[in-house]
Amino acid sequence: MKTIILVFHPDLAHSRVNKTLVNALGQEFEVRDMYQLYPDFKIDVATEKRYLESADRIVLQFPMYWYSSPALLKQWLDDVLEFGWAYGVGGDALKQKELLIAVSPGADNYRREGFAKYTVTELLRPFQATSRLIQMKYLKPFITVGASSIGEQELLAQAQKYKDYLSTVELTLLDDFE
Ligand SMILES: Cc1cc2nc3c(=O)[nH]c(=O)nc-3n(C[C@H](O)[C@H](O)[C@H](O)COP(=O)(O)O)c2cc1C
Repeated sequence: MKTIILVFHPDLAHSRVNKTLVNALGQEFEVRDMYQLYPDFKIDVATEKRYLESADRIVLQFPMYWYSSPALLKQWLDDVLEFGWAYGVGGDALKQKELLIAVSPGADNYRREGFAKYTVTELLRPFQATSRLIQMKYLKPFITVGASSIGEQELLAQAQKYKDYLSTVELTLLDDFE
């Protein structure tokens, strides 16, 4: 199984959480720092498609920004998921591949009774709906809550869990309304 990890962090070098997660992965995974590749947001669509076609599992890793993702990920989706390739007539390029969202919300209140009110998986529904449209298998997201305040030991343990999760061949799909 080939897994690629596309990291959308505007400044990965100065990130604490996402950098630690990436560093734990080691050489066996292909990690692409998307903001470093596309600082001007001009995405090389043909190259991106080739990477996606070559993978069985595609991981989109990012810090939560405004209950969503950093802007480059949205641009990347807009540009790369073309009609006739990702969806629509003849658009089967990603069919049956796995999609995994790995997100780090800074806060830790994603519960009905918490200030954020909604769970993280609820906030990620646009990705889940997109996955459905492009016929991918939407895996249970890997969520690092409380990223703004997570302690060092907990972060290192979470990074190890990330590596273990990505190394697991049979991962569970997320139900439509889970
Ligand atoms: C522009 C911006 C928007 C953010 N929006 C949210 C948000 O909506 N919810 C949240 O929990 N954290 C939010 N955060 C906090 C980040 O998610 C948090 O700092 C990040 O996950 C930490 O990871 P890092 O060390 O890799 O940067 C935001 C941070 C920035 C800079």
